[in-house]
Amino acid sequence: MALLLFFAAFALSAATHAVGQPAGFLSIDCGLEANYSGYTDTIHGIFYVSDGSYVDAGENHGVAADQESGRIRPDLTVRSFPSGVRNCYALPTNAGNKYLVRVVAFYGNYDGKNSSSSLQFDLHLGSNYWDTVQAGSTKQVYEALFVAWASWAPVCLINTGQGTPFVSSVELRMLGSELYPHVMTNQSMRLHFRDILGPTTVSRSVAR
Ligand SMILES: *[C@@H]1O[C@H](CO)[C@@H](O)[C@H](O)[C@H]1NC(C)=O
Ligand SMILES: *[C@@H]1O[C@H](CO)[C@@H](O)[C@H](O)[C@H]1NC(C)=O
Ligand SMILES: *[C@@H]1O[C@H](CO)[C@@H](O)[C@H](O)[C@H]1NC(C)=O
Repeated sequence: MALLLFFAAFALSAATHAVGQPAGFLSIDCGLEANYSGYTDTIHGIFYVSDGSYVDAGENHGVAADQESGRIRPDLTVRSFPSGVRNCYALPTNAGNKYLVRVVAFYGNYDGKNSSSSLQFDLHLGSNYWDTVQAGSTKQVYEALFVAWASWAPVCLINTGQGTPFVSSVELRMLGSELYPHVMTNQSMRLHFRDILGPTTVSRSVAR
């Protein structure tokens, strides 16, 4: 399976989010204590659960208080993985179905070390390299499209010796099989860049 680059210019519709949690629509707020699991984000209407059922390692942390402003609730906690080279979330999938998976990694000085300029780690989808997270980058959203090959898909954070991997949220969306015909069982894609083509009056932040 090869990971191809793709250019995409679309914004996921808010209307889709508002209807709740359709099949294959999973939103995980990483680092959220289990007793807060199951809330609806007030801005996008997305229902978030905590990550305890999907990962079996790591530590929960909150971002620094001075980093919370302007952030949605899933960004306010992270799970970090100080132990082990490879730590994975196991996302439930149906073999043969097409999915979009999104990882958000907002450092927010959660460890108080102000180390974002040197901190980086890799993401893998199954055994395939997906992308490199650079904590100091303005890019905090990483997406890939794939056809599920089993009843679960591992989304893995790989410690490459440049700091402790962490993650703010992991989201999974089942797609219609007719979308992105180049995405096949043997061939996934990752998001390279997203921008808004069209009205110049639309805030770029909505395309997050
Ligand atoms: C939820 O659990 C955390 C950690 O176990 C605890 O600190 C917090 O007080 C709990 N909150 C509520 C509302 O029970
Ligand atoms: C954090 O690091 C950045 C550069 O990476 C620096 O500009 C900033 O002053 C640092 N802040 C603190 C509180 O150390
Ligand atoms: C994946 O399979 C399709 C159809 O069988 C083929 O055309 C394509 O070259 C394959 N891609 C890779 C990366 O092997």
